[in-house]
Amino acid sequence: PRPRVWLARPLFEDITARLDGHFDVVRTPVEDRYPPAAVAGHLREIDGALVTLSEKIGAEEIAGAARLRAIANVAVGYDNLDLPALTAAGVLVTNTPDVLTETTADFGFALLMATARRITEAERWLREGRWDRWSFDRLLGADLHGSTLGILGMGRIGQGIARRAGGFDMRVLYHNRSRLPAETESACKARYVGFAELLAQADHLMLVLPYTAQTHHVIDAAALAKMKPTATLVNIARGGIVDEPALIDALAHGRLAAAGLDVYEGEPAVRPELLALRNVVLTPHIASASPATRRAMVALAVDNLIAALGCGPDAGRPSAPVNAGKMKR
Ligand code: GLV
Ligand code: GLV
Repeated sequence: PRPRVWLARPLFEDITARLDGHFDVVRTPVEDRYPPAAVAGHLREIDGALVTLSEKIGAEEIAGAARLRAIANVAVGYDNLDLPALTAAGVLVTNTPDVLTETTADFGFALLMATARRITEAERWLREGRWDRWSFDRLLGADLHGSTLGILGMGRIGQGIARRAGGFDMRVLYHNRSRLPAETESACKARYVGFAELLAQADHLMLVLPYTAQTHHVIDAAALAKMKPTATLVNIARGGIVDEPALIDALAHGRLAAAGLDVYEGEPAVRPELLALRNVVLTPHIASASPATRRAMVALAVDNLIAALGCGPDAGRPSAPVNAGKMKR
């Protein structure tokens, strides 16, 4: 019999239709968040799943999923999946790197510019009908040119942002788990510094690192206290990297100039204290959201699932595995 796969939500039918050539596809029509019990139910009696970051899958969800062998995540980040639990259960996990790098770096830069130059705050003010006369000192923002950009997490997206920063004559510092090869550093004109120095030097700090137990709340009250009070912070990674109450406190009391956030600790819920702040730019997790990139992400996830479940020439060898080599079964 053909493998059965669960397509967790409708995603570009012209692309996901390719799954039907290989599998019996179980489609869930409602585009919604699923409670854990529902996810566990969907994972029973299937061999693979194509999911998004809204589907949280760990030991509890796969307890009754004896046949499950592969999960294709339609995202580069995979903190929605409990990797140790899935690896121990012999489930191959794949993600969608590379295809979203440039689109996400574009958005990081857009959010940086909007935050530094107070674009959305200015627009809100104008729409409120408050523009009576032009004023010389209204809505002054922070320059990008000539400033220092700090990048925390220097993967593909971080490097894409560094390359863009060169066009704005910014000085680029970065901190990463491991230092980049010298030729990569010179290609993106970025200098490696320690975490404390990154915080202290940055006029603008961009977060582009994966969310793990090690990166949980790396931007906490102590880290924020090391930053310049004139600095801006941009988070396009995951909400849990930032201690949101500490950030809110710093923003509300002038210890940090502004923040641009595309991700949140409890998303899609956003803390009302954030909504009430003037000096934040808030977007709903859209950094990779261009039609071409979203289609490329789905296409890569489909390829990954087909390869992972062993139909075709690259059987068992998807192009973007996350836990290959760590599998127990
Ligand atoms: C989106 O946040 C992704 O990880 O692709
Ligand atoms: C994240 O993994 C990236 O592509 O930077």
